[in-house]
Amino acid sequence: MSKKILILSGDGIGPEIVSEAVNVLQAVDCSFGLDLELEDGLLGGAALDVHGEPCPQITLDQARSAEAILLGAVGGPKWDAAERQLRPERGLLKIRSELQLFGNLRPALLYPQLADASSLKPEVVAGLDILIVRELTGGIYFGEPRGIRTLDNGEREGFNTYRYSESEVRRIGHLAFDAARKRNGRVCSVDKANVLEATVLWREVMDELAPQYPDVELSHMYVDNAAMQLVMRPKQFDVIVTGNMFGDILSDAAAMLTGSIGMLPSASLDKDGRGMYEPCHGSAPDIAGQDKANPLATILSVAMMLRYTLAAPQAAEAIETAVSRVLDSGLRTADIASEGMRVVGTREMGAAVLAAL
Ligand code: NAI
Ligand code: MG
Repeated sequence: MSKKILILSGDGIGPEIVSEAVNVLQAVDCSFGLDLELEDGLLGGAALDVHGEPCPQITLDQARSAEAILLGAVGGPKWDAAERQLRPERGLLKIRSELQLFGNLRPALLYPQLADASSLKPEVVAGLDILIVRELTGGIYFGEPRGIRTLDNGEREGFNTYRYSESEVRRIGHLAFDAARKRNGRVCSVDKANVLEATVLWREVMDELAPQYPDVELSHMYVDNAAMQLVMRPKQFDVIVTGNMFGDILSDAAAMLTGSIGMLPSASLDKDGRGMYEPCHGSAPDIAGQDKANPLATILSVAMMLRYTLAAPQAAEAIETAVSRVLDSGLRTADIASEGMRVVGTREMGAAVLAAL
């Protein structure tokens, strides 16, 4: 039976970059006999315009019956005035939580061809290859109660709740340990157990899981130190596992060690390994519709889809190798351009990857 893949192009540069990634997906579908069935859907501003909400029921229904989702990005100035519940970004939060996509995998990989793009010294980042595993559907971003209230003395107070259940920690822990097994066998769990009780439990549960993975080395680090270590000695890390908020911040910092937001893919997985795949960047309204966006983050997200959901690691490698060859050949989109390289647009970059495939 064919496997359904839902394509959510989204807003801004979304349609441009997704179109290139879909070409790549269709090419490997053919050459590796994957039997995929692609279906289009709406999310974010695109869905708001048609259905009046950023994540309508029809999109959720399509998503639930799909094996995997490829997403561009959502949002843009056109919808910025919308009330909070109707902003495109709400659609993203909704689809993640409705599908229980709790496991966010964000690799920070420095391509040797782009070593000069990093803000850090080459010797600090050369060969950098980190995977950040961020819990995505719990923690302080979703904890209740939350809100803004007026105290008895008339002063307003904002509050959120940092909360993680044992089972939530366990499932993200398993994901991180399993990922480390396929990589370099090290997990660093990041918390703030010296201050936050919720993360004391987080640390305990990680320790409880460790004996099931004798081949993986577990260490713990406080988040403030982790931030420091990431910019000081980033190569000490293999897999970093952490909660929603710490992961949000650390994964953006780690991403920038590679110097190029246009190169970074991501996966968000549910408990059965189905998932949503998307570039780490946003909808880049400043360059939308100009054939300037780098499609490689989205193309590399397709590679992650093949590896983590579709069990086609060879197809994933073929795409990653093709991307590497194109970089070797000196082609660059504007965001990763450097001296002596040939600057190309979105379509030409996509076509080059296809040709290299
Ligand atoms: P952004 O990531 O869209 O853009 C930041 C900068 O990076 C811009 O200068 C942009 O041109 C550049 N950039 C981003 N992707 C690029 C690519 N593939 N190739 C070349 N350059 C690229 O972040 P920003 O500007 O903060 O947000 C713009 C919109 O995107 C907002 O509406 C925001 O809410 C939304 N957003 C959506 C996300 C998602 O859908 N996952 C994530 C982050 C932001
Ligand atoms: Mg973020």
